[in-house]
Amino acid sequence: MDIFHIEGPVRLSGSVKINGSKNASLPIMAASILAKGKSVLSSVPHLSDISVCGQLLGQLGCTVDRSPNDNLCIDATVIDNPVGEYEIVRRMRASICILGPLLARCGRAEVSMPGGCAIGDRPIDIHVRGLRELGAKIHLKNGYIIAEAPKGLKGKAIFLGGAFGSTVLGTANVLMAATLAKGKTVIESAACEPEITDLANCLNKMGAKITGIGSPRLSVEGVRELQPVEYKVIPDRIEAGTFMVAAAITSGELHLHNCRLDDMMAVVDKFRNVGVTIDAAGDGCVVTRRKPIKTADITTQPYPGFPTDLQAQFMALLSLARGNSVIIEKIFPDRFMHVAELNRMAANLRKEGPAVIVAGVKKLIAAPVMASDLRASAALVLAGMAAEGTTIVNRVYHIDRGYEKIEERLNPVGANITRQGI
Ligand code: EPZ
Repeated sequence: MDIFHIEGPVRLSGSVKINGSKNASLPIMAASILAKGKSVLSSVPHLSDISVCGQLLGQLGCTVDRSPNDNLCIDATVIDNPVGEYEIVRRMRASICILGPLLARCGRAEVSMPGGCAIGDRPIDIHVRGLRELGAKIHLKNGYIIAEAPKGLKGKAIFLGGAFGSTVLGTANVLMAATLAKGKTVIESAACEPEITDLANCLNKMGAKITGIGSPRLSVEGVRELQPVEYKVIPDRIEAGTFMVAAAITSGELHLHNCRLDDMMAVVDKFRNVGVTIDAAGDGCVVTRRKPIKTADITTQPYPGFPTDLQAQFMALLSLARGNSVIIEKIFPDRFMHVAELNRMAANLRKEGPAVIVAGVKKLIAAPVMASDLRASAALVLAGMAAEGTTIVNRVYHIDRGYEKIEERLNPVGANITRQGI
């Protein structure tokens, strides 16, 4: 298990290229199951979650490899084992997004039920409800979801909202399944995240007939078959937001390339409110912080609201604001594992149910801290770059799930992060 030694404080300056989106790549990789033949995906990042997804598709019968020009090639000509094994699903919950496409392609799927998660309860009841509405028979056996539709799925109008709003991977599952269902499906209260838009665009390129893309009402005319695809994945808006915080928390200036501000309006708005300058530039933007950080109140929401996946990173930034901020988590109310760790670095955070009161401090002080989940770990790296002294972040593998060699991208722009294998 690797650890990071982070020397601080530093001031970042320079250019960083944002990679393709992890959370768009994963469902698009799953979508490749829907078509016999070889799909070629570009801009898929090199992350452990992507490798796990590749292994999962490999177990189903696909061949997955990287071409010399770094495209991810998935040959789904043969799917002879429509089973998502526990050993893989327990490593990555997003594995659940093979359920819909497998069912549509094979008429049967067995996928291990995902277990607990550091960011809280993550049920999949809405996925199951949506697929049942399309005619699937689904039951649980020995920890596996067994889904069957031997005569195919049938389109229907479905309300897919839940207690916390829309579901991203639930929408992905039902949308993928509906592409091959007989007749018309309407998904009401669909997730509108850019990653779902990217998936829908990819499916249409494969021959699906989806309209309403980007809205909470997706309509799908089922087709008999889909074709393999060549598709480029969108830039990662969460990685971009994390690097924006990196510039802001270090009073630095970063030019981010391959970054779509249109996908990040709620985030950009918050940065501007707290005194960080973000100017569109070329294929991305320039992020600069010259003034003290102002306070802000943040409530996480489904897109186009402020994303839960940037909540921890903003908490690190607001720890250094002049005054009190309130952060309310409306998607995963227990996603606060970073609070105690940031407090170890002299932040002043108080959790009150699904909210955290952030009392700004003058400086953060380095400490050994424990990474708990992907975005919480990113927050610790950000805090470590601003803190005085040497911060040690344990369990760096959480960061590697979603950020490709983060230290090799931050060090050239002024960070001082050393990875040590232990
Ligand atoms: C996706 O997870 C992302 N993962 C998460 O990214 C992200 O935090 C989350 O969406 C919210 O934006 C991927 O795209 C791979 P949800 P997902 O279903 O789809 C409740 C990261 O750091 N719900 O949209 O699993 C759920 O508990 C991560 O990259 C149900 O109640 O999240 C939550 O409160 C981690 N029943 C809300 O809906 C269900 O059946 C939204 O979750 C499904 C979800």
